[in-house]
Amino acid sequence: MGPVPLPGEGGRAPAVRAMFDRIAPTYDLLNRVMTLRVDQLWRRKMIRALELRSGQVLLDLCAGTMDVAAEARRRVPGLRVIGADFSLPMLARGAGKTGLPAAQADALALPFGGARFDAATVAFGMRNLDSLARGLSELARVIRPGGKLGVLEFFRSESAGSRLVHGAYNRLALPVLGRVLSPDPEAYRYLVESMERFASRPEFEEACRQAGFSAVRGQTLFPGVCGLVLATRQA
Ligand SMILES: C[S@@+](CC[C@H](N)C(=O)[O-])C[C@H]1O[C@@H](n2cnc3c(N)ncnc32)[C@H](O)[C@@H]1O
Repeated sequence: MGPVPLPGEGGRAPAVRAMFDRIAPTYDLLNRVMTLRVDQLWRRKMIRALELRSGQVLLDLCAGTMDVAAEARRRVPGLRVIGADFSLPMLARGAGKTGLPAAQADALALPFGGARFDAATVAFGMRNLDSLARGLSELARVIRPGGKLGVLEFFRSESAGSRLVHGAYNRLALPVLGRVLSPDPEAYRYLVESMERFASRPEFEEACRQAGFSAVRGQTLFPGVCGLVLATRQA
């Protein structure tokens, strides 16, 4: 098993998918420990910001173990939520945990008709895609005009100070946690290096505009680590 290719290296999907298949059993635990449960606050913040309403339909893409889908359903009773992901082991845990519908699907070729959703969320999924532009254009296709997109991501840090702090945590703490909690240290090398190779938040916001989103707003949730981007599908 070689290293999982990083953003920009192309043709990564099979290796990325196999990696998530392998880490599915320990994914939730490691997430909580690595972020001291702050990851759940970030998901909650994204759901609140989207101002979803009962009766609307939300696609949670790259849903993994479906924590975002579960949070949305908890916050907005009557919301219809579907999770989609290309890793069956991740999705099976999510569907089992939440009881919500789930579809195995590739974010670059979604099996949904156009303008099918009132909103879509992607938490920590975009940086895994082979093509950011293709992923965003698929999202723009399936979200109805005026519908919302929410993205949480570990964007590449642009500030030297936070890159330093982030780099120290990534290189010192993460590998230890990865080794203790996961049978797959390669996955945690990938996690760290893919953050450092992905788009910065301003670059990602520009890609959203190029894909047909307007009112693109970004905010830093944890300096140098996690950002939230909200956007509206152009009418
Ligand atoms: C880091 S996990 C995030 C899971 C979840 N959204 C969360 O908040 O914890 C990234 C997920 O993206 C999925 N993924 C990566 N590339 C994908 C693609 N091309 N199509 C569908 N899912 C993909 C992986 O299988 C994985 O479950």
